[in-house]
Amino acid sequence: MPEERPEVLMAAPLPDFLRQPMEAVYRVCELASSSANVRAIVPLGGTVLSKELLAGFPKLEIISVMGVGYDGVPIPWCKERGIRVTNTPDVLTDDVADIAVALVLMTSRRLIESNRFLHDGKWLSGAFPLAHALRGKVAGILGLGRIGKAIAQRLEAHGMKIAYHGRKPQNAPWNYFDNLKALAAESDFLIVACPGGPGTQKLVNADVLASLGSEGTLINIARGSVVDETALITALENGTIRTAGLDVFEDEPRVPAGLMKCERAVLLPHVGSATHETRRAMANLVLDNLAAHFAGRELITPV
Ligand code: DGY
Repeated sequence: MPEERPEVLMAAPLPDFLRQPMEAVYRVCELASSSANVRAIVPLGGTVLSKELLAGFPKLEIISVMGVGYDGVPIPWCKERGIRVTNTPDVLTDDVADIAVALVLMTSRRLIESNRFLHDGKWLSGAFPLAHALRGKVAGILGLGRIGKAIAQRLEAHGMKIAYHGRKPQNAPWNYFDNLKALAAESDFLIVACPGGPGTQKLVNADVLASLGSEGTLINIARGSVVDETALITALENGTIRTAGLDVFEDEPRVPAGLMKCERAVLLPHVGSATHETRRAMANLVLDNLAAHFAGRELITPV
């Protein structure tokens, strides 16, 4: 009897360049057509997989996340059951760091507003107001992981000073703050680059925003869950901070009305890793991890 192809569940809509090669090797299903024989699950970075859902798949061996963030996966629960988890680090670092820099530039130089100004024909009646330079300003990075470091290197090239906060100081040439409020008080731009999940839930709260201050800008390219969005909206409305540049939100793709109507804020639909090149590299890493698992080889990027 030929051996059954492993059943792999797509826990989110996957791009064709991942789904098609998966279909060539595995029995690929969606939740509605899945069976108790599912041996692998492929979610996206932000997909939430509850323990209740996972418990319905007693033969589950591996969760291969197409994303660097695995905050939607209950890691300790998986570990207890010997379910392996992989993600797609490194291949997306440059793209996500580029989007952070783009948000810093878009907010400081008011690029979205000036683009709208021109399209609205207002240039004929006068010049666009002055904006703010980056040179000499402080970028405070919350979470100096791979992406945080790539952001720091890029912003240094723009003449900015770099400071950071995380669980511990790192072997890095930048100023470490053991306290997030103190980092925010020092920063012109507070840049969220830490993982999401229970440990970082609403770390950026009303107090941190008050410390960032009325000349400060909040940038978030990590997870919406790290920022208290209600406090952020209040801070934007009251002028507690100058503005925000956000690629991620608490309840994507739903963005609260308070942010939608804030003209000064620059809001992007979670496009950090959304390039042809990077998404293909992420897809290939998912395929390689699945192949390694089913061939009994070492995983390439285990969590
Ligand atoms: C990730 O890889 O986690 C990005 O946020 C895309 O979801």
